[in-house]
Amino acid sequence: MTKKIRVGLIGAGNIGQNAHIPAYLKQEDVELFAVYDIKESRSRDVAKRFGFKHVATSLDEIVSMDELDAVSVCTWNNGHAESVIAAANAGKHILCEKPMAMTVAETEEMAKAVRANDVIFMMGFVNRFRAESKVIKALAEEGKFGDIYYAKTGIIRRRGTPLGWFTDLSKSGGGPVIDLGVHVIDVTWYYMGKPKPISVSAVTYSKIGDYKTKGVSRWEAYDTDDLVFDTEDSAAALIRFENGASMTVDVSWAINGQERNVYSEIYGTKAGASLDPFMIYGEEAGYLTDNRPVLEGEDMFGNQIRHFIDCVKTGNTPIATLEDGMEIQKILNGIYESARLGKEIQL
Ligand SMILES: NC(=O)c1ccc[n+]([C@@H]2O[C@H](COP(=O)([O-])OP(=O)(O)OC[C@H]3O[C@@H](n4cnc5c(N)ncnc54)[C@H](O)[C@@H]3O)[C@@H](O)[C@H]2O)c1
Repeated sequence: MTKKIRVGLIGAGNIGQNAHIPAYLKQEDVELFAVYDIKESRSRDVAKRFGFKHVATSLDEIVSMDELDAVSVCTWNNGHAESVIAAANAGKHILCEKPMAMTVAETEEMAKAVRANDVIFMMGFVNRFRAESKVIKALAEEGKFGDIYYAKTGIIRRRGTPLGWFTDLSKSGGGPVIDLGVHVIDVTWYYMGKPKPISVSAVTYSKIGDYKTKGVSRWEAYDTDDLVFDTEDSAAALIRFENGASMTVDVSWAINGQERNVYSEIYGTKAGASLDPFMIYGEEAGYLTDNRPVLEGEDMFGNQIRHFIDCVKTGNTPIATLEDGMEIQKILNGIYESARLGKEIQL
């Protein structure tokens, strides 16, 4: 097939410029077609620097472009629902950054538009595209872990609160639960075979907040003026699933403890696995074994974009689906609801 897939970018900030655009540029069958950001000067700058053919000045303008095939939605979290609904109603395929939205109600509206227009919708659950994830998932599907009944996951940052809109509840919908928890809950749930979540018990804290600690680095949104901090800065949760399995989650942007990057540990009746350090914990010939599959480094954002383009071309359902995005959103919002009520809630 010679036709290039014409891609649009909605929201041209950090993740758009540093992950989506570089990954699209590596694909020979993709053309950077149009860009739209609420900051017009940013759209123009990004179009010039990366070679987008068109600059749109409204959401309606970008999604109405006849020749456009697909969009990456990389706005603040409060722009995901509106952008996805507009793109779907215009018949464009969609790769949506995490989290799917800010509320479960928004995800339901998004799903209606996606289903009514029969477009490809893929969630940007990028950790599924790690080389380690492919191995753990393949072993799980071969039954090597037996019954996976428990998992622990999280990301612990000591002073790693992102700067910008992330801490502003009206734009983000939440703090580290929605920003970091979304990644680790998703990837662990995916390894576990996506069991149905039935209840959540959680706590959230906002104790360290807007610190002035020196010598620490943070993810920065494109705009870091007018800072608001009204989200949690750490959280813990226990999620129970219909099949009897459970998952504990620990996330923090700021906490007085040891840092831990993305970790995910699954425990099965035959073996277990850990994402970082990457290890398969088993038993062979009556002895305990620690096996570390040999992997080449892989570009997870590149893999994610390649998969999205392949799905657009073939019409195949992506591995990170609309339904997955909705299920994870139920868990995220369930965590907030449980923390607010101070008790376990049913999902
Ligand atoms: N997959 C990952 O690892 C990862 C990492 C960082 C961020 N993200 C996600 O990517 C999204 C963007 O984060 P970021 O760090 O790039 O933020 P950012 O602030 O750097 O970029 C967002 C851009 O979107 C623009 N924007 C905001 N609302 C808009 C709207 N309604 N329509 C059009 N443009 C709009 C802003 O002007 C800004 O240029 C968020 O949803 C975030 O959760 C994902």
